[in-house]
Amino acid sequence: MSNPDELLRIEGIRKTFPGVVALDGVDFDLRRGEVHVLLGENGAGKSTLIKMLSGAYTPDAGRILAGGEEVRIAGAQDSERLGIATIYQEFNLVPDLTVAENIFLGRQPRRFGMIDRKTMEAEAAVLLERVGVSVSPRARVRELGIARLQMVEIAKALSLNARVLIMDEPTAVLTSEEVEKLFAIVRRLREDGVGIVFITHHLEEIAALGDRVTVIRDGRSVGQVPASTPEDELVRLMVGRSIEQQYPRTRPETGEALLRVEGLTRDGVFHDVSFEVRAGEVVGIAGLVGAGRTEVVRAVFGADPYDEGTVEVAGSALRRHDVNAAMEAGIGLVPEDRKGQGLVLDASVEENLGLVTLRSATRAGLVDLKGQRAAAARIAEQLGVRMAGLGQHVRTLSGGNQQKVVIGKWLLADTRVLILDEPTRGIDVGAKVEIYQLVNELTAAGAAVLMISSDLPEVLGMSDRVLVMAQGRIAGELAAEQATQDAVMALAVGTPSPSDPDSDPDKTDKEAPRGR
Ligand SMILES: Nc1ncnc2c1ncn2[C@@H]1O[C@H](COP(=O)(O)OP(=O)(O)OP(=O)(O)O)[C@@H](O)[C@H]1O
Ligand SMILES: [Mg+2]
Repeated sequence: MSNPDELLRIEGIRKTFPGVVALDGVDFDLRRGEVHVLLGENGAGKSTLIKMLSGAYTPDAGRILAGGEEVRIAGAQDSERLGIATIYQEFNLVPDLTVAENIFLGRQPRRFGMIDRKTMEAEAAVLLERVGVSVSPRARVRELGIARLQMVEIAKALSLNARVLIMDEPTAVLTSEEVEKLFAIVRRLREDGVGIVFITHHLEEIAALGDRVTVIRDGRSVGQVPASTPEDELVRLMVGRSIEQQYPRTRPETGEALLRVEGLTRDGVFHDVSFEVRAGEVVGIAGLVGAGRTEVVRAVFGADPYDEGTVEVAGSALRRHDVNAAMEAGIGLVPEDRKGQGLVLDASVEENLGLVTLRSATRAGLVDLKGQRAAAARIAEQLGVRMAGLGQHVRTLSGGNQQKVVIGKWLLADTRVLILDEPTRGIDVGAKVEIYQLVNELTAAGAAVLMISSDLPEVLGMSDRVLVMAQGRIAGELAAEQATQDAVMALAVGTPSPSDPDSDPDKTDKEAPRGR
Protein backbone atom coordinates (compact mmCIF):
# COMPACT_ATOMS: atom_id res chain seq x y z
CA MET A 1 0.00 0.00 0.00
CA SER A 2 1.38 3.35 -1.03
CA ASN A 3 0.24 5.83 1.57
CA PRO A 4 -0.25 4.69 5.18
CA ASP A 5 -2.49 7.72 5.78
CA GLU A 6 -4.88 6.73 3.05
CA LEU A 7 -8.30 5.82 4.44
CA LEU A 8 -10.28 5.42 1.27
CA ARG A 9 -9.69 5.35 -2.45
CA ILE A 10 -12.28 5.35 -5.18
CA GLU A 11 -11.30 4.44 -8.72
CA GLY A 12 -13.39 4.86 -11.84
CA ILE A 13 -16.77 4.60 -10.17
CA ARG A 14 -19.77 4.52 -12.48
CA LYS A 15 -23.44 4.59 -11.61
CA THR A 16 -26.43 4.88 -13.90
CA PHE A 17 -30.10 5.30 -13.11
CA PRO A 18 -32.79 4.84 -15.74
CA GLY A 19 -32.05 7.56 -18.25
CA VAL A 20 -29.24 9.19 -16.26
CA VAL A 21 -25.55 8.55 -15.99
CA ALA A 22 -25.05 9.92 -12.50
CA LEU A 23 -21.38 8.95 -12.18
CA ASP A 24 -19.19 8.34 -15.16
CA GLY A 25 -15.76 7.53 -13.82
CA VAL A 26 -14.98 9.28 -10.55
CA ASP A 27 -11.65 9.07 -8.75
CA PHE A 28 -11.29 10.25 -5.20
CA ASP A 29 -9.17 9.53 -2.16
CA LEU A 30 -9.32 10.43 1.51
CA ARG A 31 -6.52 10.62 4.05
CA ARG A 32 -6.41 10.57 7.80
CA GLY A 33 -6.76 14.00 9.35
CA GLU A 34 -7.98 15.89 6.32
CA VAL A 35 -11.10 17.67 5.22
CA HIS A 36 -11.64 16.76 1.60
CA VAL A 37 -14.24 18.95 -0.10
CA LEU A 38 -16.43 17.64 -2.90
CA LEU A 39 -17.40 20.48 -5.19
CA GLY A 40 -19.74 20.44 -8.15
CA GLU A 41 -22.88 21.86 -9.69
CA ASN A 42 -26.37 20.70 -8.76
CA GLY A 43 -26.77 17.22 -10.16
CA ALA A 44 -23.03 16.72 -10.72
CA GLY A 45 -23.13 13.50 -8.69
CA LYS A 46 -21.78 14.45 -5.25
CA SER A 47 -24.54 12.88 -3.19
CA THR A 48 -24.59 9.81 -5.41
CA LEU A 49 -20.86 9.37 -4.87
CA ILE A 50 -21.04 9.45 -1.10
CA LYS A 51 -23.97 7.04 -1.18
CA MET A 52 -21.54 4.49 -2.62
CA LEU A 53 -19.53 4.86 0.57
CA SER A 54 -22.51 4.70 2.91
CA GLY A 55 -23.84 1.57 1.24
CA ALA A 56 -27.03 3.21 0.00
CA TYR A 57 -26.05 2.47 -3.61
CA THR A 58 -23.60 0.03 -5.11
CA PRO A 59 -21.49 1.06 -8.10
CA ASP A 60 -22.03 -0.41 -11.58
CA ALA A 61 -18.29 -0.37 -12.18
CA GLY A 62 -15.10 0.79 -10.49
CA ARG A 63 -13.35 -0.01 -7.22
CA ILE A 64 -13.46 1.16 -3.63
CA LEU A 65 -10.40 0.55 -1.46
CA ALA A 66 -10.23 0.95 2.29
CA GLY A 67 -6.75 0.98 3.80
CA GLY A 68 -5.39 -0.25 0.48
CA GLU A 69 -7.69 -3.26 0.18
CA GLU A 70 -10.59 -3.53 -2.18
CA VAL A 71 -13.91 -3.64 -0.35
CA ARG A 72 -17.53 -4.18 -1.18
CA ILE A 73 -19.97 -1.86 0.53
CA ALA A 74 -23.33 -3.50 0.00
CA GLY A 75 -25.24 -1.91 2.82
CA ALA A 76 -25.16 0.30 5.89
CA GLN A 77 -23.57 -2.44 8.02
CA ASP A 78 -20.61 -2.79 5.66
CA SER A 79 -20.13 0.95 5.75
CA GLU A 80 -20.34 1.06 9.53
CA ARG A 81 -17.89 -1.81 9.89
CA LEU A 82 -15.38 0.19 7.85
CA GLY A 83 -15.78 3.09 10.26
CA ILE A 84 -17.70 5.30 7.85
CA ALA A 85 -20.44 7.55 9.22
CA THR A 86 -22.64 9.61 6.92
CA ILE A 87 -24.78 12.65 7.50
CA TYR A 88 -27.11 12.98 4.55
CA GLN A 89 -28.48 16.08 2.86
CA GLU A 90 -31.86 14.83 4.09
CA PHE A 91 -31.62 13.89 7.71
CA ASN A 92 -32.08 10.34 8.82
CA LEU A 93 -33.53 10.68 12.29
CA VAL A 94 -36.78 9.24 13.62
CA PRO A 95 -38.95 12.19 14.72
CA ASP A 96 -40.89 10.40 17.44
CA LEU A 97 -37.91 8.92 19.22
CA THR A 98 -35.79 10.79 21.73
CA VAL A 99 -32.37 12.19 20.98
CA ALA A 100 -30.67 9.37 22.90
CA GLU A 101 -32.77 6.70 21.15
CA ASN A 102 -31.85 8.15 17.79
CA ILE A 103 -28.16 8.24 18.61
CA PHE A 104 -28.13 4.59 19.65
CA LEU A 105 -30.79 3.35 17.24
CA GLY A 106 -30.39 -0.39 16.71
CA ARG A 107 -27.57 -0.73 19.24
CA GLN A 108 -29.02 0.46 22.52
CA PRO A 109 -27.05 -0.63 25.57
CA ARG A 110 -28.90 -3.45 27.34
CA ARG A 111 -29.08 -4.82 30.86
CA PHE A 112 -30.75 -8.14 31.61
CA GLY A 113 -32.16 -8.03 28.08
CA MET A 114 -33.84 -4.67 28.60
CA ILE A 115 -32.77 -1.40 27.06
CA ASP A 116 -30.65 0.33 29.66
CA ARG A 117 -32.08 3.85 29.40
CA LYS A 118 -29.91 5.30 32.12
CA THR A 119 -26.66 4.25 30.52
CA MET A 120 -27.91 5.21 27.09
CA GLU A 121 -28.94 8.67 28.19
CA ALA A 122 -25.74 9.24 30.12
CA GLU A 123 -23.63 8.25 27.13
CA ALA A 124 -25.73 10.42 24.84
CA ALA A 125 -25.21 13.35 27.18
CA VAL A 126 -21.44 12.93 26.93
CA LEU A 127 -21.58 12.87 23.14
CA LEU A 128 -23.86 15.91 22.97
CA GLU A 129 -21.50 17.74 25.28
CA ARG A 130 -18.64 16.86 22.96
CA VAL A 131 -20.38 18.46 19.99
CA GLY A 132 -21.23 21.42 22.18
CA VAL A 133 -24.98 21.40 21.84
CA SER A 134 -27.29 21.96 24.76
CA VAL A 135 -30.11 19.56 24.22
CA SER A 136 -31.58 16.97 26.52
CA PRO A 137 -31.01 13.32 25.58
CA ARG A 138 -34.68 12.83 26.39
CA ALA A 139 -35.99 15.53 24.04
CA ARG A 140 -38.00 14.21 21.12
CA VAL A 141 -36.27 14.80 17.82
CA ARG A 142 -39.52 16.21 16.40
CA GLU A 143 -39.19 19.19 18.72
CA LEU A 144 -35.71 20.21 17.59
CA GLY A 145 -34.81 22.93 15.15
CA ILE A 146 -32.79 22.01 12.12
CA ALA A 147 -29.44 23.19 13.46
CA ARG A 148 -29.74 20.89 16.44
CA LEU A 149 -30.87 18.00 14.29
CA GLN A 150 -27.58 18.40 12.52
CA MET A 151 -25.72 18.36 15.82
CA VAL A 152 -27.56 15.21 16.90
CA GLU A 153 -26.54 13.59 13.64
CA ILE A 154 -22.94 14.48 14.39
CA ALA A 155 -23.21 13.11 17.93
CA LYS A 156 -24.54 9.90 16.41
CA ALA A 157 -21.59 9.75 14.03
CA LEU A 158 -19.20 10.27 16.94
CA SER A 159 -20.82 7.43 18.84
CA LEU A 160 -19.84 5.13 15.99
CA ASN A 161 -16.22 6.13 16.53
CA ALA A 162 -16.07 6.82 12.84
CA ARG A 163 -12.73 7.05 11.09
CA VAL A 164 -14.45 8.59 8.10
CA LEU A 165 -17.16 11.22 8.47
CA ILE A 166 -19.15 12.23 5.42
CA MET A 167 -21.19 15.43 5.54
CA ASP A 168 -23.48 16.35 2.66
CA GLU A 169 -24.13 20.12 2.71
CA PRO A 170 -24.17 20.36 6.50
CA THR A 171 -24.00 24.15 6.49
CA ALA A 172 -26.87 24.77 4.06
CA VAL A 173 -29.34 25.22 6.90
CA LEU A 174 -27.12 26.67 9.61
CA THR A 175 -26.70 30.26 10.77
CA SER A 176 -23.22 31.73 10.64
CA GLU A 177 -22.83 31.20 14.36
CA GLU A 178 -23.80 27.57 14.06
CA VAL A 179 -21.43 27.18 11.15
CA GLU A 180 -18.59 28.33 13.42
CA LYS A 181 -19.56 25.73 16.02
CA LEU A 182 -19.69 23.05 13.39
CA PHE A 183 -16.28 24.04 12.04
CA ALA A 184 -14.80 23.81 15.52
CA ILE A 185 -16.10 20.25 15.84
CA VAL A 186 -14.83 19.29 12.41
CA ARG A 187 -11.39 20.72 13.17
CA ARG A 188 -11.22 18.77 16.40
CA LEU A 189 -12.13 15.55 14.60
CA ARG A 190 -9.49 16.26 11.99
CA GLU A 191 -6.90 16.63 14.75
CA ASP A 192 -8.01 13.26 16.07
CA GLY A 193 -7.13 11.79 12.69
CA VAL A 194 -10.65 11.42 11.29
CA GLY A 195 -10.96 11.85 7.52
CA ILE A 196 -13.84 14.13 6.58
CA VAL A 197 -15.65 14.36 3.26
CA PHE A 198 -17.38 17.72 3.13
CA ILE A 199 -19.87 18.89 0.52
CA THR A 200 -20.82 22.55 0.27
CA HIS A 201 -21.99 25.18 -2.20
CA HIS A 202 -20.56 27.98 -0.04
CA LEU A 203 -17.21 28.61 -1.62
CA GLU A 204 -15.89 30.72 1.24
CA GLU A 205 -16.09 27.66 3.49
CA ILE A 206 -13.58 25.80 1.38
CA ALA A 207 -10.52 27.83 2.25
CA ALA A 208 -11.75 28.23 5.83
CA LEU A 209 -12.08 24.53 6.54
CA GLY A 210 -10.81 22.36 3.70
CA ASP A 211 -7.47 20.78 2.85
CA ARG A 212 -8.08 19.38 -0.62
CA VAL A 213 -10.89 19.76 -3.14
CA THR A 214 -12.11 17.28 -5.71
CA VAL A 215 -14.23 18.90 -8.40
CA ILE A 216 -16.96 16.83 -10.04
CA ARG A 217 -18.60 17.85 -13.28
CA ASP A 218 -21.27 15.77 -15.03
CA GLY A 219 -20.38 12.68 -13.07
CA ARG A 220 -16.63 12.89 -13.65
CA SER A 221 -13.84 14.10 -11.46
CA VAL A 222 -12.30 16.97 -13.39
CA GLY A 223 -9.64 18.08 -10.98
CA GLN A 224 -8.11 17.88 -7.56
CA VAL A 225 -6.77 21.13 -6.13
CA PRO A 226 -5.72 22.53 -2.76
CA ALA A 227 -8.45 24.22 -0.74
CA SER A 228 -6.52 27.47 -0.93
CA THR A 229 -7.29 27.71 -4.67
CA PRO A 230 -8.88 31.11 -5.45
CA GLU A 231 -12.68 31.04 -5.66
CA ASP A 232 -12.90 32.15 -9.27
CA GLU A 233 -10.62 29.30 -10.25
CA LEU A 234 -12.80 26.85 -8.32
CA VAL A 235 -15.86 28.22 -10.11
CA ARG A 236 -14.20 27.81 -13.47
CA LEU A 237 -13.35 24.19 -12.71
CA MET A 238 -16.82 23.52 -11.46
CA VAL A 239 -19.00 25.11 -14.13
CA GLY A 240 -16.50 25.10 -16.98
CA ARG A 241 -16.57 28.88 -17.44
CA SER A 242 -16.07 31.92 -15.26
CA ILE A 243 -18.92 33.91 -13.83
CA GLU A 244 -18.61 37.58 -14.64
CA GLN A 245 -21.20 39.04 -12.40
CA GLN A 246 -22.52 37.29 -9.37
CA TYR A 247 -25.46 39.65 -8.77
CA PRO A 248 -26.71 40.78 -12.18
CA ARG A 249 -29.61 42.89 -10.91
CA THR A 250 -31.02 45.24 -13.54
CA ARG A 251 -33.57 47.66 -12.18
CA PRO A 252 -36.65 48.31 -14.28
CA GLU A 253 -39.02 51.28 -13.86
CA THR A 254 -41.30 50.63 -10.93
CA GLY A 255 -45.09 50.83 -11.22
CA GLU A 256 -48.04 50.59 -8.85
CA ALA A 257 -47.83 48.92 -5.47
CA LEU A 258 -48.70 45.31 -6.20
CA LEU A 259 -48.41 44.08 -2.64
CA ARG A 260 -49.38 46.25 0.30
CA VAL A 261 -49.20 44.93 3.83
CA GLU A 262 -50.64 47.14 6.59
CA GLY A 263 -50.25 46.69 10.32
CA LEU A 264 -49.88 42.92 10.16
CA THR A 265 -49.73 41.49 13.66
CA ARG A 266 -49.69 38.04 15.10
CA ASP A 267 -49.61 38.17 18.85
CA GLY A 268 -46.27 37.13 20.22
CA VAL A 269 -44.74 36.53 16.79
CA PHE A 270 -44.71 39.73 14.73
CA HIS A 271 -46.07 43.16 15.30
CA ASP A 272 -47.39 46.02 13.17
CA VAL A 273 -45.58 45.01 10.01
CA SER A 274 -46.27 47.38 7.11
CA PHE A 275 -44.60 47.59 3.73
CA GLU A 276 -45.29 47.57 0.03
CA VAL A 277 -43.66 46.08 -3.02
CA ARG A 278 -44.14 47.81 -6.37
CA ALA A 279 -44.37 46.32 -9.81
CA GLY A 280 -40.82 45.87 -11.06
CA GLU A 281 -39.30 45.95 -7.59
CA VAL A 282 -37.26 43.45 -5.62
CA VAL A 283 -37.62 44.07 -1.91
CA GLY A 284 -35.33 42.07 0.34
CA ILE A 285 -36.03 41.15 3.95
CA ALA A 286 -32.93 40.70 6.06
CA GLY A 287 -32.70 39.82 9.73
CA LEU A 288 -31.33 37.34 12.18
CA VAL A 289 -32.72 33.87 12.67
CA GLY A 290 -35.85 34.19 14.75
CA ALA A 291 -36.64 37.75 13.62
CA GLY A 292 -40.01 36.59 12.27
CA ARG A 293 -39.39 36.91 8.54
CA THR A 294 -40.72 33.52 7.47
CA GLU A 295 -43.75 33.90 9.75
CA VAL A 296 -44.66 37.23 8.14
CA VAL A 297 -44.47 36.02 4.55
CA ARG A 298 -46.36 32.83 5.39
CA ALA A 299 -49.12 35.00 6.86
CA VAL A 300 -49.16 37.16 3.73
CA PHE A 301 -49.53 34.01 1.65
CA GLY A 302 -52.40 32.81 3.84
CA ALA A 303 -50.50 29.80 5.09
CA ASP A 304 -50.26 31.02 8.69
CA PRO A 305 -52.69 33.04 10.77
CA TYR A 306 -52.51 36.66 11.86
CA ASP A 307 -54.58 38.61 14.31
CA GLU A 308 -54.67 42.07 12.80
CA GLY A 309 -53.81 43.93 9.63
CA THR A 310 -54.55 43.74 5.92
CA VAL A 311 -52.97 42.33 2.80
CA GLU A 312 -53.77 43.97 -0.54
CA VAL A 313 -52.79 42.89 -4.02
CA ALA A 314 -52.95 45.58 -6.70
CA GLY A 315 -55.24 47.69 -4.57
CA SER A 316 -57.77 45.10 -3.46
CA ALA A 317 -57.75 43.39 -0.12
CA LEU A 318 -57.63 39.61 -0.19
CA ARG A 319 -61.15 38.28 0.18
CA ARG A 320 -60.27 35.53 2.57
CA HIS A 321 -57.28 34.71 4.64
CA ASP A 322 -56.20 31.48 3.06
CA VAL A 323 -53.77 30.15 0.50
CA ASN A 324 -56.38 29.82 -2.25
CA ALA A 325 -57.38 33.46 -2.01
CA ALA A 326 -53.70 34.48 -2.08
CA MET A 327 -53.00 32.33 -5.12
CA GLU A 328 -56.09 33.60 -6.96
CA ALA A 329 -54.85 37.12 -6.36
CA GLY A 330 -51.52 36.15 -7.93
CA ILE A 331 -49.28 35.62 -4.91
CA GLY A 332 -46.75 32.79 -5.02
CA LEU A 333 -44.46 31.53 -2.27
CA VAL A 334 -41.28 29.55 -2.64
CA PRO A 335 -40.94 28.24 0.93
CA GLU A 336 -37.68 27.73 2.77
CA ASP A 337 -38.64 24.11 3.39
CA ARG A 338 -39.02 22.79 -0.13
CA LYS A 339 -39.36 19.15 0.86
CA GLY A 340 -42.12 19.78 3.36
CA GLN A 341 -44.10 22.46 1.57
CA GLY A 342 -42.98 23.10 -1.95
CA LEU A 343 -43.11 19.74 -3.70
CA VAL A 344 -45.01 16.52 -4.15
CA LEU A 345 -41.97 14.25 -4.00
CA ASP A 346 -43.51 11.19 -5.59
CA ALA A 347 -44.96 13.08 -8.52
CA SER A 348 -43.08 13.83 -11.72
CA VAL A 349 -41.25 17.01 -12.62
CA GLU A 350 -44.02 17.84 -15.07
CA GLU A 351 -46.75 17.32 -12.48
CA ASN A 352 -44.93 19.44 -9.94
CA LEU A 353 -44.37 22.24 -12.41
CA GLY A 354 -48.07 22.16 -13.27
CA LEU A 355 -49.32 22.14 -9.66
CA VAL A 356 -50.43 25.76 -9.66
CA THR A 357 -51.47 26.24 -13.28
CA LEU A 358 -53.27 22.94 -13.51
CA ARG A 359 -55.41 23.83 -10.54
CA SER A 360 -56.78 26.95 -12.15
CA ALA A 361 -57.09 25.32 -15.56
CA THR A 362 -59.04 22.41 -14.09
CA ARG A 363 -61.34 24.77 -12.33
CA ALA A 364 -61.98 26.67 -15.54
CA GLY A 365 -62.85 23.32 -17.11
CA LEU A 366 -60.18 23.32 -19.77
CA VAL A 367 -57.07 21.28 -19.37
CA ASP A 368 -54.69 21.69 -22.23
CA LEU A 369 -52.34 18.85 -21.38
CA LYS A 370 -50.20 19.30 -24.45
CA GLY A 371 -49.83 22.98 -23.72
CA GLN A 372 -49.00 22.13 -20.12
CA ARG A 373 -46.29 19.75 -21.19
CA ALA A 374 -44.77 22.22 -23.62
CA ALA A 375 -44.77 24.93 -20.97
CA ALA A 376 -43.22 22.59 -18.42
CA ALA A 377 -40.53 21.58 -20.89
CA ARG A 378 -39.77 25.21 -21.68
CA ILE A 379 -39.43 26.28 -18.06
CA ALA A 380 -37.35 23.23 -17.12
CA GLU A 381 -35.02 24.02 -19.97
CA GLN A 382 -34.83 27.69 -19.04
CA LEU A 383 -33.98 26.80 -15.44
CA GLY A 384 -31.52 24.14 -16.55
CA VAL A 385 -33.15 21.42 -14.46
CA ARG A 386 -30.88 18.40 -14.66
CA MET A 387 -33.18 15.41 -15.13
CA ALA A 388 -33.73 12.29 -17.20
CA GLY A 389 -37.02 13.71 -18.49
CA LEU A 390 -40.19 15.45 -17.40
CA GLY A 391 -41.49 12.13 -16.09
CA GLN A 392 -38.73 11.73 -13.48
CA HIS A 393 -39.97 11.73 -9.90
CA VAL A 394 -38.93 14.84 -8.05
CA ARG A 395 -37.69 12.72 -5.14
CA THR A 396 -34.82 11.48 -7.30
CA LEU A 397 -33.69 14.92 -8.47
CA SER A 398 -30.64 16.37 -6.82
CA GLY A 399 -31.32 18.87 -4.02
CA GLY A 400 -30.60 21.96 -6.08
CA ASN A 401 -32.67 20.76 -8.98
CA GLN A 402 -35.65 20.22 -6.68
CA GLN A 403 -35.40 23.87 -5.71
CA LYS A 404 -35.47 24.91 -9.35
CA VAL A 405 -38.72 22.97 -9.81
CA VAL A 406 -40.34 24.82 -6.89
CA ILE A 407 -39.42 28.14 -8.45
CA GLY A 408 -40.48 26.98 -11.92
CA LYS A 409 -43.95 26.10 -10.69
CA TRP A 410 -44.65 29.73 -9.85
CA LEU A 411 -42.98 31.09 -12.95
CA LEU A 412 -45.42 29.04 -15.03
CA ALA A 413 -48.38 30.38 -13.14
CA ASP A 414 -47.90 34.03 -14.15
CA THR A 415 -47.40 35.04 -10.58
CA ARG A 416 -47.72 38.79 -9.95
CA VAL A 417 -46.25 38.82 -6.48
CA LEU A 418 -43.56 36.23 -5.93
CA ILE A 419 -42.29 35.67 -2.43
CA LEU A 420 -38.98 33.84 -2.18
CA ASP A 421 -37.90 32.48 1.19
CA GLU A 422 -34.20 31.58 1.07
CA PRO A 423 -34.43 30.91 -2.68
CA THR A 424 -30.85 29.85 -3.33
CA ARG A 425 -30.25 27.54 -0.39
CA GLY A 426 -28.44 24.49 -1.76
CA ILE A 427 -28.11 26.05 -5.21
CA ASP A 428 -24.74 26.04 -6.95
CA VAL A 429 -23.02 29.30 -7.90
CA GLY A 430 -23.87 29.07 -11.58
CA ALA A 431 -27.52 28.21 -11.02
CA LYS A 432 -27.80 31.08 -8.53
CA VAL A 433 -27.00 33.53 -11.27
CA GLU A 434 -29.65 31.86 -13.44
CA ILE A 435 -32.22 32.32 -10.70
CA TYR A 436 -31.24 35.99 -10.34
CA GLN A 437 -31.69 36.41 -14.08
CA LEU A 438 -35.18 34.97 -13.74
CA VAL A 439 -35.92 37.47 -11.00
CA ASN A 440 -34.79 40.19 -13.39
CA GLU A 441 -37.05 38.91 -16.13
CA LEU A 442 -39.99 38.62 -13.79
CA THR A 443 -39.65 42.18 -12.55
CA ALA A 444 -39.00 43.49 -16.06
CA ALA A 445 -42.35 41.94 -16.97
CA GLY A 446 -43.98 43.88 -14.14
CA ALA A 447 -44.03 41.40 -11.27
CA ALA A 448 -43.16 42.29 -7.69
CA VAL A 449 -40.64 40.16 -5.82
CA LEU A 450 -40.25 39.90 -2.06
CA MET A 451 -37.14 37.98 -1.05
CA ILE A 452 -36.07 36.74 2.35
CA SER A 453 -32.47 35.77 2.51
CA SER A 454 -29.98 35.22 5.27
CA ASP A 455 -27.22 35.39 2.72
CA LEU A 456 -26.33 39.02 3.21
CA PRO A 457 -24.37 39.52 -0.02
CA GLU A 458 -27.37 38.12 -1.88
CA VAL A 459 -29.91 40.49 -0.27
CA LEU A 460 -27.61 43.43 -0.85
CA GLY A 461 -26.76 42.39 -4.38
CA MET A 462 -30.29 41.73 -5.62
CA SER A 463 -32.65 44.03 -3.68
CA ASP A 464 -33.76 47.50 -4.72
CA ARG A 465 -34.81 48.13 -1.13
CA VAL A 466 -34.01 46.18 2.02
CA LEU A 467 -36.35 45.81 4.99
CA VAL A 468 -34.61 44.70 8.13
CA MET A 469 -36.60 42.77 10.71
CA ALA A 470 -35.67 42.36 14.34
CA GLN A 471 -37.75 40.67 17.01
CA GLY A 472 -40.92 40.57 15.00
CA ARG A 473 -40.85 44.18 13.85
CA ILE A 474 -39.55 46.07 10.90
CA ALA A 475 -36.52 47.72 12.43
CA GLY A 476 -35.76 49.84 9.38
CA GLU A 477 -35.68 50.19 5.66
CA LEU A 478 -32.62 50.87 3.53
CA ALA A 479 -32.44 51.97 -0.09
CA ALA A 480 -30.07 49.88 -2.18
CA GLU A 481 -27.46 52.65 -2.06
CA GLN A 482 -27.47 52.76 1.75
CA ALA A 483 -27.69 49.04 2.29
CA THR A 484 -24.30 47.88 3.47
CA GLN A 485 -23.55 44.83 5.61
CA ASP A 486 -22.87 47.09 8.58
CA ALA A 487 -26.06 49.10 8.14
CA VAL A 488 -28.16 45.95 7.90
CA MET A 489 -26.49 44.29 10.87
CA ALA A 490 -26.90 47.38 13.04
CA LEU A 491 -30.65 47.26 12.42
CA ALA A 492 -30.89 43.48 12.66
CA VAL A 493 -29.26 43.37 16.06
CA GLY A 494 -31.59 46.18 17.12
CA THR A 495 -32.12 47.11 20.71
CA PRO A 496 -30.22 44.74 22.94
CA SER A 497 -32.71 42.20 24.26
CA PRO A 498 -32.80 41.41 27.98
CA SER A 499 -31.87 37.80 27.35
CA ASP A 500 -29.03 37.05 25.06
CA PRO A 501 -30.42 34.55 22.53
CA ASP A 502 -27.18 32.62 22.84
CA SER A 503 -27.78 31.83 26.45
CA ASP A 504 -31.17 30.35 25.63
CA PRO A 505 -30.72 28.28 22.52
CA ASP A 506 -34.02 26.46 23.07
CA LYS A 507 -35.89 29.64 22.50
CA THR A 508 -33.99 30.60 19.38
CA ASP A 509 -34.50 27.19 17.94
CA LYS A 510 -38.24 27.21 18.29
CA GLU A 511 -38.65 30.62 16.75
CA ALA A 512 -36.06 30.06 14.17
CA PRO A 513 -36.88 30.43 10.54
CA ARG A 514 -33.99 28.25 9.62
CA GLY A 515 -31.94 31.01 8.15
CA ARG A 516 -28.33 31.33 7.62
N1 LIG B 1 -32.45 7.27 -7.36
C1 LIG B 1 -32.25 7.98 -8.48
N2 LIG B 1 -32.97 7.75 -9.59
C2 LIG B 1 -32.77 8.47 -10.71
N3 LIG B 1 -31.87 9.45 -10.83
C3 LIG B 1 -31.12 9.74 -9.74
C4 LIG B 1 -31.27 9.03 -8.52
N4 LIG B 1 -30.39 9.54 -7.63
C5 LIG B 1 -29.72 10.53 -8.26
N5 LIG B 1 -30.15 10.64 -9.56
C6 LIG B 1 -29.64 11.58 -10.56
O1 LIG B 1 -28.23 11.56 -10.54
C7 LIG B 1 -27.69 12.85 -10.78
C8 LIG B 1 -26.74 13.23 -9.67
O2 LIG B 1 -27.48 13.53 -8.51
P1 LIG B 1 -26.82 13.91 -7.11
O3 LIG B 1 -27.91 13.94 -6.12
O4 LIG B 1 -25.67 13.01 -6.86
O5 LIG B 1 -26.27 15.38 -7.40
P2 LIG B 1 -25.51 16.40 -6.40
O6 LIG B 1 -24.17 16.65 -7.00
O7 LIG B 1 -25.55 15.89 -5.03
O8 LIG B 1 -26.38 17.72 -6.57
P3 LIG B 1 -26.87 18.86 -5.47
O9 LIG B 1 -25.77 19.85 -5.35
O10 LIG B 1 -28.06 19.50 -6.15
O11 LIG B 1 -27.24 18.16 -4.21
C9 LIG B 1 -28.88 13.78 -10.94
O12 LIG B 1 -29.14 13.95 -12.30
C10 LIG B 1 -30.02 13.02 -10.27
O13 LIG B 1 -31.26 13.36 -10.81
MG1 LIG C 1 -26.52 16.51 -3.29
